[in-house]
Amino acid sequence: VHWTAEEKQLITGLWSKVDLSTVGGEALACMLVTYPWTQRFFGDFGNLSSPAAILGNPRVKAHGKKVLTSFGDAIKGLDNIKETFAKLSELHCDKLHVDPENFKLLGNVLLIVLAGHFGKDFTPACHAAYQKLTNVVAHALARRYH
Ligand code: HEM
Repeated sequence: VHWTAEEKQLITGLWSKVDLSTVGGEALACMLVTYPWTQRFFGDFGNLSSPAAILGNPRVKAHGKKVLTSFGDAIKGLDNIKETFAKLSELHCDKLHVDPENFKLLGNVLLIVLAGHFGKDFTPACHAAYQKLTNVVAHALARRYH
């Protein structure tokens, strides 16, 4: 993938203002609420019985932070995203058995949560750059599937 200087600037500029725990927790919760079949991967996370329970679940928040930290690693190395996600791709395939289609769902809810937090600062150009990033991350995570 090629990143223009403008895309890199848009991505890193916004990312420096992202609170990983808040945005990550909301994005993961939003995925679990909007696409309830994704809950089955998180059977040991405790109470996921309602949107309020999911949003208030500390394990959801903690895991959301982990996932966003990993997005942050992608942003630190936009030119080696494939390598960054090689191990995680193996983990999600071999151990977790997560269908890669779900990576796109999480990417999409992340865009919505970012738009909600940053409002007009999440400009169309910024949205486009982040859409590209979530696609590249989803692709990299699916790469080691077999
Ligand atoms: C674990 C990243 C999407 C299910 C993890 C971990 C990371 C991560 C960093 C922790 C790995 C470790 O402990 O070594 C990501 C990223 C995603 C993504 C960057 C971006 C799209 C998903 C999706 C699902 C999923 C869509 C399911 C619908 C899981 C599960 C675990 C996990 C079940 C193990 C949780 C636990 O019990 O601690 N992921 N993930 N991931 N991921 Fe993902």
